[in-house]
Amino acid sequence: MKIIVAITGATGTVYGVRLLSALKAAKAESHLIVSRPAEKVMAMETEYSLDGVRELATRWYEPDDIAAPIASGQTYWQAMVVAPCSMRTLSAVAASRADTLISRAADITLKERRRLILMPRETPLHLGHLRQMAAVTEMGAIVMPPLPTFYDKPKSIDDLIDNTVGRVLDLLEVQHDLTRPWQAV
Ligand SMILES: Cc1cc2nc3c(=O)[nH]c(=O)nc-3n(C[C@H](O)[C@H](O)[C@H](O)COP(=O)(O)O)c2cc1C
Repeated sequence: MKIIVAITGATGTVYGVRLLSALKAAKAESHLIVSRPAEKVMAMETEYSLDGVRELATRWYEPDDIAAPIASGQTYWQAMVVAPCSMRTLSAVAASRADTLISRAADITLKERRRLILMPRETPLHLGHLRQMAAVTEMGAIVMPPLPTFYDKPKSIDDLIDNTVGRVLDLLEVQHDLTRPWQAV
């Protein structure tokens, strides 16, 4: 299984990092792109170093490396996840802008009819944000905002993160033990 993971400059960069760890544990191949704004946000909100995050991935690319193998539809991967997805990257994908490696790889994922999961993070949302989400959904992407659940009684922030990342792994059809099956109480 080969998955592209992109981390963009919305708050919640930890989702992308946790996803990389889970893919590594599942022995799935991960190809990482971290946008420049995401580097800054990650440094502000986590203890992770960029080098440490890159080490979790099978391979990583500079965000402006538009000649990378994953900038071509001839390279095969099953799915791509943008975790978290900024409104800037969301709108670039919606407009098929393909001007960075992240938006180009997302564009290819859509045109090759592969699974693209976007985790947009903004609140509150104006009509422009909602329209971009509708546009990418019409194009075939899955919009999955990182929204926590509370009915499973999370005990920590890690529990909330794992629950959301577990839902992403479900969409990728990757086995994991991050979430428990839901049971009515
Ligand atoms: C601390 C911090 C938090 C941010 N949080 C968000 C956010 O939650 N959602 C968002 O769309 N942009 C957020 N931004 C703004 C983006 O980083 C900015 O729009 C950037 O251009 C996104 O570029 P990228 O999509 O290439 O990563 C944040 C910026 C900073 C510095």
